[in-house]
Formats: sequence, C-alpha cells, structure tokens
Amino acid sequence: MHPLLPAPGDRPAPELDDNRLADLYAYPAVLTAPYVRVNFVSSADGAAAVEGRSGGLGSPADRRVFRMLRELAEVVLVGAGTVRAEDYRGTRRPTRGRDTFPPVAIVTGSADLDPESRCFTDTHVPPIVLTGAGAPRARRDRLAAAGADVVVLERLDPESVLAELGRRGLHRVLCEGGPSLFGDLVTADAVDELCLTLAPLLAGGAATRIARGVPGTPPRPLQLAGALHEDGTLLLRYTRAAPIE
Ligand SMILES: NC(=O)c1ccc[n+]([C@@H]2O[C@H](COP(=O)([O-])OP(=O)(O)OC[C@H]3O[C@@H](n4cnc5c(N)ncnc54)[C@H](OP(=O)(O)O)[C@@H]3O)[C@@H](O)[C@H]2O)c1
Repeated sequence: MHPLLPAPGDRPAPELDDNRLADLYAYPAVLTAPYVRVNFVSSADGAAAVEGRSGGLGSPADRRVFRMLRELAEVVLVGAGTVRAEDYRGTRRPTRGRDTFPPVAIVTGSADLDPESRCFTDTHVPPIVLTGAGAPRARRDRLAAAGADVVVLERLDPESVLAELGRRGLHRVLCEGGPSLFGDLVTADAVDELCLTLAPLLAGGAATRIARGVPGTPPRPLQLAGALHEDGTLLLRYTRAAPIE
C-alpha cells in the first residue's frame, strides 16, 4: 500500500501542463477498432447527478480533464437522456493535433430530441443520431432537416453502435454517459477505460449512480492506470483488466 496523500517526501509532484496531461490520457497509439473510454463524475457517496444534472459535481479539475478528453477523442458518444438533461452542445475544439472536430453521436431509441437544442444549433460539426426503425419517421426527418446525420440501425445495441462508429473510422470513442448507456456498454463488455472523477462531497438524496443496467451483468475487472488529485478532487483512470479466472 502506498500513500497518495499526504504526498510522500516533502514536496508535491510538479503541476501537469496540458501536454503532459494529454500524454497521460493518450489513447492507445494504434487502434483498428473503436476503443471505448467512458468519463463520469461522481460524488463521494456515489451520486451521478445533483438535482438531475452533473454540473453540481464539477470542479475546475474535472472540467479541465473533461475538456482534455474531448480534445483527444474522435467522437463523443452520449445517450439521449443526457442530451435532454444537460442541454448538451457540440464540441468546441478540434481533436488535438488535427483540424477536424469530434462529432457528438447520440444514441436514442425514440429520436425524441429537440432540433432547436444546442446539440444541433451550437456545434462546429453536425451530430450523428444513432436510432432504430422504431423511431417515428417524422422525428427522424426533423433531426435530419436540422442537419443531423441520422443513422437507422437494425439493432440499437452497443455492438451495432460501435460497429457504425468503426465503419466511419471513429476509433477514439469518448462516452460521456449517461448511466443507461454506460450500463448497456458494461453489459456488452464494451468498456475499455473509465475516467472517474470523485468529487469531494456527499450528495445524499435519490440520485442515480453512474451505471444503470440489467441485473445479472458479471463484474468487469479493471486496473487502476492513473490517479491525479487537485483541491480534494480525485481523477482516476481505470483500464480493462484480464478477466478473473
Ligand atoms: N455524473 C456524470 O458524469 C453524468 C454523465 C452523464 C449523465 N449524467 C446524468 O445522468 C442522467 C441521465 O441519465 P440517463 O440514464 O437517462 O442517461 P442516458 O444514458 O444518456 O440516456 C438514456 C437514453 O438514451 C437512449 N439510450 C441509451 N442507451 C440506449 C440503447 N442501448 N438503446 C436505445 N436507446 C438508448 C434512450 O433514449 P430515448 O429515450 O430517446 O429512446 C434512453 O432513454 C442526468 O441526470 C444526467 O445529468 C451524469
């Protein structure tokens, strides 16, 4: 066992500049298929939201890593519940080292999204809407008319969603939630990495946790690959570990 705090020795480790931070969060150098990184913030008692939104859990450190993860991604994958709850908008910076902006890919069975919302109107690149044939055509058409790239998948499950992203060459996937989509990805054993910010507060209440899926999903082992801290906020990075025999 090793202490993270108090810091060993008499001086804390040097501050990380953005280049060093980007190195710490770099995706694997060679990817031939989507690599799924998931980013969440949670209170110390496990809440994924305060009064229905994640903003109440944020901090400068969390926002800095959130922005960096977006800069490193080729696509931001998100469930429709989060887009509706958080009034999501598109990415604001190009992928680091490139001049292309990562699109937001929204998973929605219903296609019940507001084409006037910021995801469609406040973005450098049109969102990709991943939906199924069960979504009413009028809604799909409205989103397409708002500029979205609407894709109707035969099966709206993690495998098909990731296959569609892979087909487009979007391998550096950053999933920003929410809990239902994350739960589905865990069930499908499709999560390669979890970046988890642990906010130094107790939220109490009836908030959801960061993953909500079907009972019976076997636990997916992780290994701790990184741990940063700033002003009491812990920024943990876990990667997929070999399955327990
Ligand atoms: N703490 C954090 O870091 C964080 C991050 C993100 C979100 N949140 C919080 O989480 C809450 C939202 O939770 P949520 O579970 O509703 O979010 P969600 O997972 O973003 O959205 C769920 C919705 O996404 C669509 N969806 C997801 N997976 C699907 C699948 N496999 N097949 C078809 N549709 C799928 C469905 O949309 P349709 O209903 O349109 O069919 C479903 O109702 C909000 O309070 C938000 O603030 C917290």
